[in-house]
Amino acid sequence: MAYKIVKLGHPVLEQVAEPVQQFDTPELRELVDGMFETMYANKGVGLAAPQVNVSQRVTVIDTSNGEDPDAKVVLINPEITKLEGTQLGEEGCLSIPGFREDVKRAMKATIRARNVKGEEFEITGEELLARAMQHEIDHLNGILFLQHLSALKRDLIRRKIRKLQKAGEWD
Ligand code: NI
Repeated sequence: MAYKIVKLGHPVLEQVAEPVQQFDTPELRELVDGMFETMYANKGVGLAAPQVNVSQRVTVIDTSNGEDPDAKVVLINPEITKLEGTQLGEEGCLSIPGFREDVKRAMKATIRARNVKGEEFEITGEELLARAMQHEIDHLNGILFLQHLSALKRDLIRRKIRKLQKAGEWD
């Protein structure tokens, strides 16, 4: 089942999400499957549970846009263990549709996380995968990519979004 994605302005996006305590449950499987479905339907490369109004530390990522089943990544209770180098590249967010900006991220990221069964694993990604993992883990800490921009750019985007909200074009 696909979920509705909540947009900037919804308080869940700015909350620190709760760690998953119970693994290998039908509820967790349904959440992860539904998040993949929602992400693919919206042509995203990553999605965090708070974006579907579930304040839990779960993210899904697929930098192949669904073309490579091996590219599916599920990170539950992820922790960043190593960041190396830097990259500057355009980033967007399904919760902030229509806005893309250059964001500086680490070029290479190593993450320790659990899968749906609760098994711990480590994954290292570079470039887009590293960017996506950093972006999605930010979501679990209530951080949106706007917070990585200059105050000037951030305020400009927030002003534009406020206009859209007033016009009823942002819900
Ligand atoms: Ni996002």
